[in-house]
Amino acid sequence: MRRILILWLCTASLSAFGERLSNPRTEERVGRLIRNMTLEEKIGQMTQRSGRGGVKAFREEIRLGRIGSILNEVDADSVNALQRIAVEESPNGIPLLIGRDVIHGFRTIFPIPLGLAATWNPALVEKGARIAAVEAASSGVHWTFAPMMDIARDPRWGRIAEGFGEDPYLAAVMSVAMIRGFQGDDLSGPASLAACAKHFAGYGAAEGGRDYNTVMMSENELRDVYLPPFRASVDAGCATFMAAFNELNGVPASGSSFLFRRILRDEWGFEGFVVSDWASITQMVPHGFAADHKQAAEKAIRAGIDMEMQTDSYVAHIRELLDEGRITMAMIDEAVANILRVKFAMGLFERPYTDASLFPPLLNAEHLESAKQAALQSAVLLKNNGVLPLSGNLKRLAVIGPLADAPHEQLGTWVFDGRAEDAVTPLAALRSRLPNGPHVDYVQTLAYSRDRDTRNFGRAVKAAKKSDAVLLFLGEEAILSGEAHCRADLNLPGAQDALVDAIRKTGRPVVLVILAGRPLTIGHLLDRVDAVLYAFHPGTMAGPALADLLFGTESPSGKLTVTFPKVVGQIPMYYNHKNTGRPPRAESWVHIDAIEVGVWQTSLGNESHYLDAGFLPEFPFGYGLSYTAFDYRNLKLSSGTIRHGDSLTVAADIRNTGSLAADEIVQLYIRDRVGDITRPVKELKGFRRIRLEPGETRTVRFTLKTEDLAFHNRKMEFVTEPGWFHVWIGPNSAEGLRGEFEIVQ
Ligand code: NOJ
Repeated sequence: MRRILILWLCTASLSAFGERLSNPRTEERVGRLIRNMTLEEKIGQMTQRSGRGGVKAFREEIRLGRIGSILNEVDADSVNALQRIAVEESPNGIPLLIGRDVIHGFRTIFPIPLGLAATWNPALVEKGARIAAVEAASSGVHWTFAPMMDIARDPRWGRIAEGFGEDPYLAAVMSVAMIRGFQGDDLSGPASLAACAKHFAGYGAAEGGRDYNTVMMSENELRDVYLPPFRASVDAGCATFMAAFNELNGVPASGSSFLFRRILRDEWGFEGFVVSDWASITQMVPHGFAADHKQAAEKAIRAGIDMEMQTDSYVAHIRELLDEGRITMAMIDEAVANILRVKFAMGLFERPYTDASLFPPLLNAEHLESAKQAALQSAVLLKNNGVLPLSGNLKRLAVIGPLADAPHEQLGTWVFDGRAEDAVTPLAALRSRLPNGPHVDYVQTLAYSRDRDTRNFGRAVKAAKKSDAVLLFLGEEAILSGEAHCRADLNLPGAQDALVDAIRKTGRPVVLVILAGRPLTIGHLLDRVDAVLYAFHPGTMAGPALADLLFGTESPSGKLTVTFPKVVGQIPMYYNHKNTGRPPRAESWVHIDAIEVGVWQTSLGNESHYLDAGFLPEFPFGYGLSYTAFDYRNLKLSSGTIRHGDSLTVAADIRNTGSLAADEIVQLYIRDRVGDITRPVKELKGFRRIRLEPGETRTVRFTLKTEDLAFHNRKMEFVTEPGWFHVWIGPNSAEGLRGEFEIVQ
């Protein structure tokens, strides 16, 4: 049994990954089946129901072939019981597909995806998804609604927690890693989950960072910024796609044949199936895009939405729409074929049941160790005046704050199957790590992050005064991010700022550890504390990972994958912005306090900045400190000129100049100086996580192909234009060694 697991965990990175879903034998089986199906059964395949209300209600419908998929039923025995009805009693014995939101772990919870991205470690992300797949599959799940690959440039948006941040390249790499992990090297394996690329498309660009809100963007921006992870997912063999809730340029995604027929099917050749989001088809009525559910169903089918999640518009109206000639049987057959193709590829016809005894236990030591590794590598050190790592000789440690011992909160958003009782909190880990070490005084002080009750501040201050160092665990509870949980104010909620002030006055060294689902505006706190470690929501193993980082067993190595603004008013703020005709410069930033009262306004010499917040973020994309220091030298380009179709090697020497072994994330950026469409000031094109011993130097080499520099021009052609480029190798998006090269025809 153990051997089987090891095989399942390892094979994901082998060669069969990314194979096509269709092949002549499958198409033949799909065709034969469709010829035998009644219209009722076809509509059934296009229908997904939620098991939350109790699955007993579905038995009869399954027997009649009226349901093709169920979400939110997670128990191998009850899934098997339902499956038996589908396979043995429904007219054509078509197995059910059981879906679940397995977003960052199943029972073993990994950091939220924004934290996972901060590891810049796709192999670790893949392993996490593999573990999630093994655990979920053992509970009867076949299909996860992940990865969410929506680019997010607005930290107010609660779902920024669920994605990989603001960069299309990084999000594509991480999405592919997750898909590999979920689907394994063979979709028909017993521990493989079908992945789902979501939400197609543009969902992360909701106006004002308010969930479900309107999205307006140019096709160039859509294709160059928001679509690359989705494109990469198709190439990686992702089995399913999910439609977004939002409208895009006036058309709700669920009714967009531009997205699903033109781009996804015709341009990209996607062979899997598309599911709506929860009720997103009927929501085309409030969107003002369909008069009623019948018209919504028609528009969704025409757009290419193969399966309806939760609502009933397909069941209620497909027959009528066919009779009236508003849709065709060919459209229905195509949707059903897309769904059946995935069911065949998953081997559900051969192996419809889950044998839970074949699987390793949930939350086993190997799973927990990987979750700890991910939590370790995802934390980002944002400030350190030398107080970290903490010395092993401390006598008394004060542990303060609402998130030091909050097992449910550290798991983060979208956790359906993880349990608070499995989570090891920072407090528990510090106590067990230090049985003979410093005495730990714990004062929760605030009951939860939004708590405004300052009555316990006195106790916290007392504990701080007696201590050699204070660890403040602040941030946001899990429920403050995620779907529909957006915030307009990104400061620490409740009385947490006041708590920082109260503790600071004790004069003790203060380490601020933040657990949160998004970037928070913490600039005003930086000079009130000695160090800041940003942990996102790190999952089940938050405690052991953070204890290791705080005491220096391992150096922090995570780097931000989203820009941290100084204040909310700067949003949207992202590193790969355009330059403008009047780009800002530090030396000419006019500060609001420097303006004389009554002076005339002038349009001369002004640049693009805010009078009160300048133009720089608090922390740039790619930023993160370490307990050691890295020196970047000797940028070398294999050539100063390359021809179309050729490639260029860019290399630099990275040296660990400190006294600790640590990982560094080396980043490659380019800037295309002039374009048919203006180009961003920087674009990430590669990265590498390397480990360096003290004093060690490594040459890191990147290969850039001219096709890596392509973008969509005004004619919507994907082209690399000749001309000059800047290239940087550096530790983040704001620093680095710069070179230049030219592409010639
Ligand atoms: C709505 C969310 O937008 C989607 O991401 C999720 O997968 C479904 N609900 C199912 O829970």
